[in-house]
Amino acid sequence: MKNTTIDNVEVINIPKIKDAKGRGNLCVIENAVLPYTVERIYYLFDVPSDASRGGHSHIACHELLVALSGSFDVVVKDGENSKTVTLNKPDKGLLIVDGIWRELDNFSSGAVCLVLASNKYEEEDYIREYSNFVKSKQ
Ligand code: TYD
Repeated sequence: MKNTTIDNVEVINIPKIKDAKGRGNLCVIENAVLPYTVERIYYLFDVPSDASRGGHSHIACHELLVALSGSFDVVVKDGENSKTVTLNKPDKGLLIVDGIWRELDNFSSGAVCLVLASNKYEEEDYIREYSNFVKSKQ
């Protein structure tokens, strides 16, 4: 969407059930927690610490990013402003709405980035040139 900004990108709390007998934690993501219905799940892992992922925006797809393990930084841009969010807790998710440029880097060893997406994979939904992204926001 043309008029989304980085203010629309927010960290959401994922409901966590801490086991009463000390057996650890369980997090649940139901569609009710999200402003969309999950259509696709994918995850990034074994990302070298000097690698950058993302580097695109989506025309229609919304995504929730969760650091299931380890940590990484997410830089989001709306063509005017940018902010960096570090994800390092499995009970926090970064909701990236459509029309936002994102870059993921600084992956720790063993980091796993889970992505819950609103749409099926469609290359036509991607803008992969930053200059085209900026034009799309004007
Ligand atoms: P890409 O979007 O470049 O990864 P990232 O943004 O995380 O750096 O995707 C890498 C490759 O995987 C590319 O060839 C497209 C393909 N792909 C799928 O086939 N299905 C998917 O759901 C995703 C996310 C990517």
